[in-house]
Amino acid sequence: MPGVHEVVHPLIKRHLTVLRCETTRPAEFRSSVRRLATLLAYEATKDLATTVAQVQTPVAMAQGYELPDRIGLVPILRAGLGMVDPVLDLIPSAEVWHLGLYRDEATAQPVRYYDKLPPGQPVDTALVLDPMLATGGSAVAALQTLYDWGVGRAKVLSLIASQEGVDAVASQFPQAQVFVCKVDAELNDQKFIVPGLGDAGDRSFNTI
Ligand code: PRP
Repeated sequence: MPGVHEVVHPLIKRHLTVLRCETTRPAEFRSSVRRLATLLAYEATKDLATTVAQVQTPVAMAQGYELPDRIGLVPILRAGLGMVDPVLDLIPSAEVWHLGLYRDEATAQPVRYYDKLPPGQPVDTALVLDPMLATGGSAVAALQTLYDWGVGRAKVLSLIASQEGVDAVASQFPQAQVFVCKVDAELNDQKFIVPGLGDAGDRSFNTI
């Protein structure tokens, strides 16, 4: 279903609390990012196509399944990097296509700096990985790039979002799906999510 999906689960609530806490150190922050990415990806991949493939168990033949579609993980540098390995663990056959976007501190507009998507060879389903969706500018820029590439479906996985941000994505790309752990109410004057969790990239990589 297109639209915004806030995934409600006790484990998500708990690990998001660890992410929010200002005394959480980078190593624990990264662990919580991994756990939340796994939980979010489980929910976001419920509608992946499967095809039947027989499998020989040590006892007998059984009905098994394969994932026929090309699935692309699209982490937004830098902070999205922390979500790649846990999702790749769930989908080992996925391709990983990095997009470099940073938010200009003065204008809060996304600035593109890395994109090596091969023309003419789009994946069937793209999972955009970025812990934060604030104004939505970075997610919109990533989705525009992916639809221009020709992806069939795109889903954005963010750990924390603002209402303004998810509204911006939904209005520009109503066909996209957005999976978030929590939508916070607002942005402050610096376009930070309130209450949010600070800057996920800096907290992940210990560059505060
Ligand atoms: C953060 C975050 C998103 C973006 C969200 O990245 O990881 O990419 O900002 O903001 P937006 O919704 O208003 O576009 P940042 O620019 O801090 O880069 P970094 O990951 O390299 O720290």
